[in-house]
Amino acid sequence: MRKPVIAGNWKMYKLLSEAVETALALKPLVANANHCEVVIAPVFVQIKTIADRLEGSNINVAAQDCAPVEKQSANTGEVSAEMLKDVGCSHIIIGHSERRQFYAESDNAVNQKTKSCLTSGLKAIVCVGEMLAEREAGKAEEVVKTQVVNGLAGLTTADMERIIIAYEPVWAIGTGKTATPEQAQEMHAFIRQVLTETHGKVVADSTRILYGGSVKPENIKELMNQEDVDGALVGGASLDANSFAQIVNYK
Ligand code: 13P
Repeated sequence: MRKPVIAGNWKMYKLLSEAVETALALKPLVANANHCEVVIAPVFVQIKTIADRLEGSNINVAAQDCAPVEKQSANTGEVSAEMLKDVGCSHIIIGHSERRQFYAESDNAVNQKTKSCLTSGLKAIVCVGEMLAEREAGKAEEVVKTQVVNGLAGLTTADMERIIIAYEPVWAIGTGKTATPEQAQEMHAFIRQVLTETHGKVVADSTRILYGGSVKPENIKELMNQEDVDGALVGGASLDANSFAQIVNYK
């Protein structure tokens, strides 16, 4: 019913030659992965090259961010969703915790970027997740609910068809500490309940919710076995073609 999404977020790790090498190595390794939507997210300046090299393959190319405004305008340093589409992007990761933490990205900015992404016809992978202190204070659900409600504010039922949510607990990102499959399931079910309140049951039941945070070939299967886990947003383990392919081919 919900087609899984396995997305690799390459963050700011690869030079162009390395990105091309990984993308080309990945291509044959995931060529038969019809069970899921495969996505990789290189940095802005590599998108066109990677998208061209992957043309005709089943690998989708995502950006890691986009501008909050759509219009071609005076916005030095920004890249619009339409420009990303123009160079071969199909998805945009929005509101990653590194952007929220290091670049003070607010829920309001996430909402504007998400709307921009949708207006341009692309799919948005909207990231949410609590910090360790928030989880320890028993506030994880409250924090995630606020991010979901505010990040997706004003979106219609039709808009929601192109929304993918990624739950990435900040304490599990790049730390080797994965949320247990039970912790992931619990939060994913909670997010689906929030979506039921904001957009109704049909939308909630059809929205893909990915887990992110130290996903590896060793733990993907158990995570995917959880009822409400519909895929993964992978950082470190997506940098190597073989390890990412193992995650894609988890079945
Ligand atoms: P790691 O898989 O390296 O923990 O990163 C997760 C992440 O931030 C993906 O967006």
